[in-house]
Amino acid sequence: METLLSVRAALFFLFLWTVTFSQISCESSTPQILITSAERRIDLMSPIVKAYITLKVENMGASPASEVLLAFPPAQAEHIALLKAASVEGKRKKKTHVELSINPTESPNAPNGAKLFSISLLKPLKSGESATLEVLLILTHSLEPFPAEIGQSESQLVYYRDSALMLSPYHVKEQTTYIKTPTTKVESFTRVDPTVRSGTEIKYGRFAEQPPYSFSPIVVHFENNHPFAVVEELVREVEVSHWGSLQITEHYRLVHAGARHAGGFSRVEYQSRASMSGLSSFKHLLAILPPRVESVYYRDGIGNISSSHLRTDAQKSQLEIEPRYPLFGGWKATFIIGYRVPLQDFLFEASDGRRYLNFSFGCPLMETSVKKLIVKVVLPEGSKDASAVIPFPVEQHFETSYSYLDIVGRTVVVLEKDNVVPEHNVAFQVYYKFNKIFMLAEPLMLISAFFFLFITCIAYQHIDLSVRKS
Ligand SMILES: *[C@@H]1O[C@H](CO)[C@@H](O)[C@H](O)[C@H]1NC(C)=O
Ligand SMILES: *[C@@H]1O[C@H](CO)[C@@H](O)[C@H](O)[C@H]1NC(C)=O
Repeated sequence: METLLSVRAALFFLFLWTVTFSQISCESSTPQILITSAERRIDLMSPIVKAYITLKVENMGASPASEVLLAFPPAQAEHIALLKAASVEGKRKKKTHVELSINPTESPNAPNGAKLFSISLLKPLKSGESATLEVLLILTHSLEPFPAEIGQSESQLVYYRDSALMLSPYHVKEQTTYIKTPTTKVESFTRVDPTVRSGTEIKYGRFAEQPPYSFSPIVVHFENNHPFAVVEELVREVEVSHWGSLQITEHYRLVHAGARHAGGFSRVEYQSRASMSGLSSFKHLLAILPPRVESVYYRDGIGNISSSHLRTDAQKSQLEIEPRYPLFGGWKATFIIGYRVPLQDFLFEASDGRRYLNFSFGCPLMETSVKKLIVKVVLPEGSKDASAVIPFPVEQHFETSYSYLDIVGRTVVVLEKDNVVPEHNVAFQVYYKFNKIFMLAEPLMLISAFFFLFITCIAYQHIDLSVRKS
């Protein structure tokens, strides 16, 4: 009995020693970062949630630190559409931002499946030094309509879930979180001491001295009648023709992702009481297109929709489109927008002689998130060695398409990305090699076809095929 006890005791001490030792070895290998102050500003004004986080970090360890880790709860991590970090250099009016690279990382110490991201600092933070970092976090599908179904005249209410304390692998000396709602209509919100609400803002904190991975769940239930326009799938086809222009065709599958519409739809009520009825529905959508667009069309499965307005200036064109019916929660609309733009605005020659298309990625519809975006760049026949350059990860592959008079087919560069937000509307390039001789291929084919026709006609006129009576 006694031996059993002593074996147990020995095992227990061995366990304790291993745990302590592994902790010590961990701490000595990762530099000790302390967050001296953290401020989060969470914007819940639209269906896309934006959080602006400012962190002051200090290196308390002995060795220099080259990275700073961010942690997010798993439920939030799966809805991240964009995560950007910058370091703030200089003071007050001379502040400049330097963008830093940020990548997902793993840590065996992260509890409850917390997802970690590592910000790489430009130059390592020496012992005792501090730095200011700014982080932009964009989340989609993070507002849950509740009630899930509403009638035509009801306002849309949604839940937002987060933590009053910022999840962090480091000790946070002091922190505050501000949550901004679209209106003052807030049904309820979790109170954590101290919580202050004034107007459209809820303030959590200041909280002092929070140990690593502190978490305090909160729920805010508030009104948000912003159009919850979500494009489930958008296929943008950009066809490059060296004979003149760029033809763009965009296939949209749009859904109103807010609270589902319950009961029937009364157009009379909708039109006569516009300010009270269908608060969360939407009638118009605004697409921002390049300047100098031509031959703009907007159609759906039935045919052309004439209710669209185009305004153009030197910087951009604005196309306001109106689906055939106003969209309520859960309703869908499928449509196509097409336009042409001059080639010289988007096609250039690189210094190494290659040609490149410089076009904008993302979705032209304003304030809309896209679940799946597919951009297809159809290059002229005879293009070779195509490659795309884009500042964030996308899935890439090649296809071949054939149109009239094509012999070898056209190279199509296909770029795919899930969870796209307006911040992804940045320029991307597709480089390719092109032999000018190919420009002659189509005209030569046309000329030979006409020539052949001509010869046939002449031959026909000279051959007498009539049956002569003898
Ligand atoms: C739709 O409009 C385009 C251009 O405005 C026109 O070429 C086309 O014939 C129209 N189609 C139908 C079905 O009306
Ligand atoms: C692409 O176009 C954007 C403006 O739309 C411009 O700022 C950028 O410099 C261009 N990139 C290249 C490589 O030409």
